[in-house]
Amino acid sequence: MPPDGWRNKRMRIKEFFFDRNNDIIKFMKTKIRKIDKNQIDETIIQEAGEILKEGGLVAFPTETVYGLGADALKEQAALKTYAAKGRPSDNPLIVHIAEYEDLKRIAVNIPAETDILAAHFWPGPLTMIFEKSPSVPYGTTGGLDTVAVRMPSDPVAQALIRAAGGFVSAPSANTSGRPSPTTAEHVAEDLDGKIDMILDGGAVDIGLESTILDMTVTPPMILRPGAITAEMFEELIGEVSVDETLLGDESEKAPKAPGMKYRHYAPKAKLLIVEGDLREEILAIRQLSYAAYREGRQAGIIATAETLPFYKYGIVKNIGTRENEKTIARNLYRVLREFDEEDVETIYSESFAVQGMGKAIMNRLEKAAGHLRISAAAVVKRQKYRRITFVGKTDCARAPMAAEILRHYDLKQEYVVDSRGLVVLFPEPVNQKAEAIMKSAQMTLADHVSRQFDAENLQDDALILTIDENQKNKILSEYGREYNVYTLNEFVEDDTEIPDPYGKPLTAYGECFEVLRGLVGRLADKLDSLVEEEE
Ligand code: TXA
Ligand code: MG
Repeated sequence: MPPDGWRNKRMRIKEFFFDRNNDIIKFMKTKIRKIDKNQIDETIIQEAGEILKEGGLVAFPTETVYGLGADALKEQAALKTYAAKGRPSDNPLIVHIAEYEDLKRIAVNIPAETDILAAHFWPGPLTMIFEKSPSVPYGTTGGLDTVAVRMPSDPVAQALIRAAGGFVSAPSANTSGRPSPTTAEHVAEDLDGKIDMILDGGAVDIGLESTILDMTVTPPMILRPGAITAEMFEELIGEVSVDETLLGDESEKAPKAPGMKYRHYAPKAKLLIVEGDLREEILAIRQLSYAAYREGRQAGIIATAETLPFYKYGIVKNIGTRENEKTIARNLYRVLREFDEEDVETIYSESFAVQGMGKAIMNRLEKAAGHLRISAAAVVKRQKYRRITFVGKTDCARAPMAAEILRHYDLKQEYVVDSRGLVVLFPEPVNQKAEAIMKSAQMTLADHVSRQFDAENLQDDALILTIDENQKNKILSEYGREYNVYTLNEFVEDDTEIPDPYGKPLTAYGECFEVLRGLVGRLADKLDSLVEEEE
């Protein structure tokens, strides 16, 4: 257990670094040095190493996230780290080494499996916890008798550790509670003026913090998921356990303490994870972001390369491709930080499969969301129709006119509105007279091309509205009666006949437009009333 004096010492240092509001006083000039990991500039590394040896703070890239380095064997240096991050000082730091032999100087009772794990995963994104040796100060371990150790693979990190004497403590280089930094710019956002130097080695590779494996228990226990997964451990050393309650970073209390609370990687906006199958998630997020838009707000959306085109409202950010979860891991914290620069109150995120790296992705995302989730199915169920298709004969005049009139309504819910024809031999632009009438009403069908109606238009959430009775009967006889097919007149309960202007003068198109405008107005009311009934 720690000697009595260390807590008092911590208090003195605290007074020195904090003002009355418990905010750190900015008084340092932070040097920012660009460094190329493929061609390391030794003078910069020596300068950084000297700062660490003298008890200063240097942020540096690792393959996981940027770390805030200090001399791990100096108690004072660790306390400075806590002050700069605004982190509770009983939350332990990871000690970074560059040589495997150095593990023996800081850890004791090292279990036999360590050699195998180190041979496979060091240097790399794995942190192992051991009983600490007396050389590690309690300041570094947050008062614990165990020490977390990692050997990073990033060449800049390795060079810095060597130049600093071999033992560098480093939490992620963010303000406590914010997303971990994956670029030097992120570090500067949080720590400029509070630390001595930032080594800018560009964007990191992995983007999520290392896997933490507690080697002091049998079987070893995963305390934080990361790029090295349980399956990868089990292939080498057999069973490992996973502490689901301890999947925490930035904890308020020392790990393994009961009733531990978590701080998050939280963005300023409220983040909600939408859960369901992917199609439902997209529909739910579309609906939620449309609802926000109608209230004059922009929702944030965390989408993937594959789903990006489905979102029309809100501020949409691409987190990566579903075909390669590594891209998602790499971008997660950047995207969360970027939303802090946007004027959004709520962010909706799609969810990701919880396997392999996905486990770490969902773990961080859930912590960022404070575990707020919504069921996509529950949101989606509230909307009966999602697609409205007007069907005419040729899809060149009345059907596209009706669709365009409807698109101009500010409806309570979002619909995909389009039109089709039952006899479309080849794609054609809209009838010129129809377009002239639309233009006089400040609308246009200039981009419209006629399309043939087919079975794909008949979905459970589609409302099919035909211009006349014949078209309706044709669809019913060809495709069966289980779909939502009505004439426009029937659906809005108004039998004003829709005249066929084809081959007639412009005025006939004008009359037709007026009738359509009346019927579509009633349709808009009916669609909104359907929403009310369901609410
Ligand atoms: O990828 C990483 O691990 C990054 C880079 C910079 O190496 N570092 C990092 O450090 O994520 P930090 O301080 O943000 O997270 C360290 C986590 C904390 O949740 C801490 O509670 C836990 O490791 N930890 C450290 N020492 C521990 C110990 N002796 N027992 C249990 N948990 C420990
Ligand atoms: Mg952290």
